[in-house]
Amino acid sequence: MSKLIIRGGRPIKGKLAVHGAKNAVLPILAASILCDDGVSVIHNCPNLRDVTITIEILRYLGARVTRAGDTITIDARRRIEGHIPPYLMQQLRSSIVFMGAIAARSRKAKISMPGGCELGPRPIDLHIKALRDLGCDIKEKRDYLYVNSRHLKSTTLTLTFPSVGATENIMLAACLAEGITIAKNVAQEPEIIDLANFLNAMGANIRGAGTNCIEIEGVKHLHAADYTIMPDRIAAITYLCCAAATKGSIELTHIVPEHLETALSLLAQCGCRVEVRNNTVLLEAPETLSAPPEIVTAPYPGFPTDAQSLFLALLTLAEGTSTIRETIFESRFRPAAELAKMGASIALCQNCATVTGVAGLQGAPVAATDLRGGAALVIAALAAEGTTEIENICYIDRGYDRLAENLSLLGADIKRI
Ligand code: EPZ
Repeated sequence: MSKLIIRGGRPIKGKLAVHGAKNAVLPILAASILCDDGVSVIHNCPNLRDVTITIEILRYLGARVTRAGDTITIDARRRIEGHIPPYLMQQLRSSIVFMGAIAARSRKAKISMPGGCELGPRPIDLHIKALRDLGCDIKEKRDYLYVNSRHLKSTTLTLTFPSVGATENIMLAACLAEGITIAKNVAQEPEIIDLANFLNAMGANIRGAGTNCIEIEGVKHLHAADYTIMPDRIAAITYLCCAAATKGSIELTHIVPEHLETALSLLAQCGCRVEVRNNTVLLEAPETLSAPPEIVTAPYPGFPTDAQSLFLALLTLAEGTSTIRETIFESRFRPAAELAKMGASIALCQNCATVTGVAGLQGAPVAATDLRGGAALVIAALAAEGTTEIENICYIDRGYDRLAENLSLLGADIKRI
């Protein structure tokens, strides 16, 4: 198994263009099977393990997929199968949005439960209820879901929680369903807007993405589209935290600053100098970080749960005490135990972590517990004195394109072995 070896104590300095968003490209690749009469071309696709698996799923379903650099072309003109085997479904969480895509294209699907990082129970009850509201017949038998969407029809539905994945499944299933579907209390994440933009580029008629109410007017047919994926806001926050933790300074380009608003405001509260220009953010770290009193995760436009682990690591070095409350996932503090091996002082109580800053961290052998937890360990290792070995970096490979190479170019002493 590969490892990362990081010798800490060197400032992260320089300029970096942020790669395309994992949580946008995955549902957009699933959506590409809705076009049966052309070849869609998707640009700015990051080179991630989750993208590779999604391409495998597309090929298994019968699509012809090619990849050249950060451009992926998908030809789904042939008949699309409705079955995804467990070995593919279980490798990532976003495989579940193929349920909505297949329901719209093939009218019948047989899929198993999705995988994804262990952040607590990750049920799909909201997905199933929404698709049933849209007229899908879904039966759960021996770990499989049998979806029959011959009677897909528009409806008005309200999610009990603004689930990102369930919102994506609703858009995918409803865009070819006759009539107007109104979906309320839906997710407002930027990745939802990206998916709606791609579907509309294919000829769909979706309005309101990015608000808590989306209107989907079903159309008869979707054509191919040429689309560029939005930048990855969580990867951007990760690099900013790397610079903030190491008394460094960084210029991030090719980003959408308003997608990072809550994180940028917290970094400024930590004492960083933050400057926003068009699609660029500049950050200069202070000599000593200050601890913001409280961080609470929330659905967008609140502070993103995916950045929670990143700040958990960063605040171990801040002067003072911070309380971090995780309101989205039940167990997203697993990196705390690994950070403690490096000298961090984190007290956990149910869905709260109290972080008391220490003068410095020490390098140690640690293991990634999930994607963003792994990135948190990288942040801590870059700031720590001495050498840190990070195992299970396959988690990190799911969501970061060339992380070690980029950090090395920014001055880090980091090796992948
Ligand atoms: C997406 O996961 C992202 N993944 C996650 O990013 C992100 O943390 C999450 O949204 C929240 O922003 C992708 O887009 C591939 P949810 P998703 O459905 O869709 C509960 C990363 O690091 N829930 O909004 O699975 C669920 O248990 C990953 O890039 C139900 O109860 O998130 C959780 O507590 C990690 N029933 C909460 O809602 C359901 O049917 C949020 O889940 C669905 C969800």
